[in-house]
Amino acid sequence: MADYDITDISLAGAGKKRIDWADREMPVLRLIRERFAQERPLKDKRFVACAHVTTETANLARTLQAGGAECVLIASNPLSTQDDVAASLVSDYGIPVFAMKGESTETYNRHVRTALDTKPEIIIDDGSDVVATLIKERPDQVKDIVGSTEETTTGIVRLEAMATAGVLTFPAMAVNNAQTKHFFDNRYGTGQSTLDGIIRATNILLAGRNVVVVGYGWCGKGVAMRARGMGANVIVTEIDPIKAIEAVMDGFRVMQMAEAARIGNIFITVTGNRHVIDESHFADMRDGAIVCNSGHFDLELNLDALKSLSAESVNRRPFVEEFALKSNGNRIVVLGEGRLINLAAAEGHPASVMDMSFANQALSAEYLIKNQGELTPGVHMLPKEVDQEIAALKLKSLGVSIDTLTAEQLEYLSSWETGT
Ligand SMILES: NC(=O)c1ccc[n+]([C@@H]2O[C@H](COP(=O)([O-])OP(=O)(O)OC[C@H]3O[C@@H](n4cnc5c(N)ncnc54)[C@H](O)[C@@H]3O)[C@@H](O)[C@H]2O)c1
Repeated sequence: MADYDITDISLAGAGKKRIDWADREMPVLRLIRERFAQERPLKDKRFVACAHVTTETANLARTLQAGGAECVLIASNPLSTQDDVAASLVSDYGIPVFAMKGESTETYNRHVRTALDTKPEIIIDDGSDVVATLIKERPDQVKDIVGSTEETTTGIVRLEAMATAGVLTFPAMAVNNAQTKHFFDNRYGTGQSTLDGIIRATNILLAGRNVVVVGYGWCGKGVAMRARGMGANVIVTEIDPIKAIEAVMDGFRVMQMAEAARIGNIFITVTGNRHVIDESHFADMRDGAIVCNSGHFDLELNLDALKSLSAESVNRRPFVEEFALKSNGNRIVVLGEGRLINLAAAEGHPASVMDMSFANQALSAEYLIKNQGELTPGVHMLPKEVDQEIAALKLKSLGVSIDTLTAEQLEYLSSWETGT
C-alpha cells in the first residue's frame, strides 16, 4: 500500500499553522488528548477514520494517535478535503491520509477500499460509506471489527437500516445522537458555516432575499435562524407536521416547495433526503435563483433533471455553475455541485462546535474498546453522563459556571408526596 495519496505534500506548513489555530478552540478534545497520551486506551488498535479532512479532524486524528491508535484517514466527501491539512497530517504527524479536494467519485471509492485493506478494528465513519462497503464487499473482515462510530444523521439512518436488515453484526456508536453533538454541531455549526459557504462562493447580500430552507431539522433550524439574523425573509418547507408547526411558531413562513420554488431567491436543502428540489421546482424558479445543499449526500437536488432542462451551463466563479433553462432562458445557479456547501466553499464548522462532536468521537472509540465483547450488535448511544461531562467541560472552558442542585432540591425531585 502507498503511504498516502494527497494533492501536495509541500502544503504541510500552511496546514500545520491552521491545525494549531483550530486546536486553540478545542479545549475539551485537548483534555482528552492529554489523558489519552497518559493512559493509551487505544493502544495498537487499527483505526480507519472517514471524515471531512479539516483542521478539526486533524486534531481528532492527533487525539486518536495520542491514545495509541494506528490510524488511517480518508475523506468522507470528494469536495470537503483541505489539502494543506492532509499534507500536514502526513508530514508533521505521520498519519497516512488518502484524500484530495475535488477527487472523483471513483478515487473516493478507491480510497475507501485502500483504507479497508489496512484491516481496521475500529471504523470512525461519517455517512456510513466505509461500514456499508465493508458489509457489502468484505464480509470476511467483519469479524475483526470491534465497533464503529458514526458522525452524522444520514449515517445513523443507514446504520438503522442495516440493523433492520440484520446485516449490522457489530456495535455502532451513534455519535450524532449525543446532545452535545447535534444540538450544537448540526444547529449552530451548520447554521453558520452553510451561510459562510454561500457567501464565500457568491459574495451575495442575504438581507431582503427570500431564503428557502428545505427541512426544519437540527441543521435547518440553524440555517433558518442565522439567515434571519442576516436580514433574509426565511421560508421553510417540511414534510413533518410537527417540525412545520415549530417553524411557524418560530416565526417563519411555511409552504409547499411548489409554491416556494416560485418566490425563492436562495434555496438551501438540509433534509438528508433525495430530490427534495426536483425537475418541476427548477422549471418554476425565478431568473437568478441560487440553489445549494448542506445535507450529507449530493442527491438532495435533482441535478440530472436540471441538466436536461438546460440549454447550457457556465462556470461563473469557483463552486458557482449557472444553468440556462431551455424553456424561458431563466438562469439557475448551483453552488458546490450540490455537495455540502459549508465544506465545499468554506471550511466546515468552526472548531469550537467540533470540539464537542469530536470529544464524543474520541470517547466513543474508547468506550468500544473498554466494552469489547460486552456490547450487542446494533446502534448504541454513549451513556448520558458522558454527554453531561462533555458539556460541563465545555462550559468550564468558556468560563461559565452554573448552579448545582441543593440537597433539598434533590430530595424534592426524587419524591412524589409534595403536591398542591
Ligand atoms: N453540512 C454539514 O456539515 C452537516 C452537519 C450535520 C448534518 N448534516 C447532514 O444534514 C442532513 C440533515 O441533518 P439533520 O441533523 O438536520 O437531520 P434531521 O433529521 O434533524 O432533519 C431533517 C429534516 O428534513 C425533513 N425532510 C425530509 N424530507 C423532506 C422533504 N422532502 N422536504 C422538506 N423537508 C424534508 C425531515 O422531516 C426533518 O425534519 C443530514 O444529511 C445530515 O447528515 C450536514
